[in-house]
Amino acid sequence: MTQTVQHHPRTTRSATALPRILAPSGRGGLRDHLARHGSLPHASGAELLDAVEQSGLTGRGGAGFPTGRKWRAVAGGPGPRVVVGNASEGEPASSKDHVLLTTNPHLVLDGLQVAARAVGASRVALYAEPDVDTWDVLGSALAERDDDRVVELVAARHAFIAGEESAVVDAISGGAGLPRAKPPRVFERGVDGRPTLVQNVETLAHAALVARYGPAWFRGLGTPDEPGSMLTTVHGGAGDPGARTVAEVEIGTPLGALVDLTGIQAVLLGGYHGTWLPVEVARTVRLSRASLGEAGGALGAGVVVPLPAAACGLVETARVLVYLAAQSAGQCGPCLNGLPRIALVAEALAEGRAVPRDMADLRRWGDLVVRRGACAHPDGTVRFLASALAVFEREVQRHLAGRCSATDGRPVLDVGRP
Ligand SMILES: Cc1cc2nc3c(=O)[nH]c(=O)nc-3n(C[C@H](O)[C@H](O)[C@H](O)COP(=O)(O)O)c2cc1C
Ligand code: SF4
Repeated sequence: MTQTVQHHPRTTRSATALPRILAPSGRGGLRDHLARHGSLPHASGAELLDAVEQSGLTGRGGAGFPTGRKWRAVAGGPGPRVVVGNASEGEPASSKDHVLLTTNPHLVLDGLQVAARAVGASRVALYAEPDVDTWDVLGSALAERDDDRVVELVAARHAFIAGEESAVVDAISGGAGLPRAKPPRVFERGVDGRPTLVQNVETLAHAALVARYGPAWFRGLGTPDEPGSMLTTVHGGAGDPGARTVAEVEIGTPLGALVDLTGIQAVLLGGYHGTWLPVEVARTVRLSRASLGEAGGALGAGVVVPLPAAACGLVETARVLVYLAAQSAGQCGPCLNGLPRIALVAEALAEGRAVPRDMADLRRWGDLVVRRGACAHPDGTVRFLASALAVFEREVQRHLAGRCSATDGRPVLDVGRP
């Protein structure tokens, strides 16, 4: 029988007020956090699971999987079970998890406790890059709390694929942090072979609010199919292509309301496994999976990079492809051999050295690596390339003739530190 959670909101929080999960001002300690939200309700695991399921919350780590369904699958497995907060954020163009974790750590830690109670987990871990800022904040926040379940901090590898869920589970189980072949999925056999819930830290922060204010409150923002708010990392602005802002927006917000599209030729959505959209299309879309899907785009983990008209989309794409090829974990032949070949030809195209036959090779190699890896890294990389070839089709022809229309060579897409 499905039960509904009784909620006793301590404050009269408006369902439509933003920000919800970003702290309104700076970093606060546990006292500020409790003053804003109150403590977690004394709901049972079954009640919390029902509330998250009814809220329609979906994963904010990239794939958008329904959170309640995943919790139910883990809860249905044999104990002991494990919950992992995924804060690795290997995507160099994304900053939202870092900002959330370092400015509002208690909401994420609440989310871990809620998830652990809902799925009946006895082990709880938080997987994050061990930079001094993050570790300091988390160390202090954990020291202030008196949780039912102890949270282990586990140092994430600095790599694009480090946050893929089977790589996360491998690292926490004492391995090298590399993706594993599926099946089994991590909800069946994860950390030390136990049923494991791997959840992005933003998803956990939303779950912590659903536990307090209820599913109807959560559905006060967003669309019926994609409720709630989401974090975005928006690049550019004020004439500086290197600037980035983390903003919380309602799902379904028009993209044009989030970024100024003046003087822009295309927008990269969803990060380096995402897709380019021409600016004419970008002006018509909303930030939802449904709207972006119809336009051939992807929401991913909320990365939005406008490409100025003066930049070259092929040069930008090639730089990222070289980076992505170097991020292959080197375990699967097609990924290990195919991605560097693809990157070399993309570089030749960017530099005006490619010939028409190279274009056919690019497409053929793309087909050869897709769905051939233990993880989705080759698929995401090929999707990014394919969208560049389609959106910058006219520029491809110019480059094949040895010309480039860019007038500003400053890099736009950041490939981070090595
Ligand atoms: C190559 C690759 C890298 C990924 N990196 C991350 C990451 O850094 N953080 C993250 O939360 N999810 C990442 N994911 C998605 C995870 O596998 C997993 O779906 C996610 O952590 C589940 O949480 P969610 O349902 O809350 O989104 C990545 C997936 C792939 C294929
Ligand atoms: S597909 Fe590539 S990145 Fe993924 S596990 Fe295989 S070699 Fe590693």
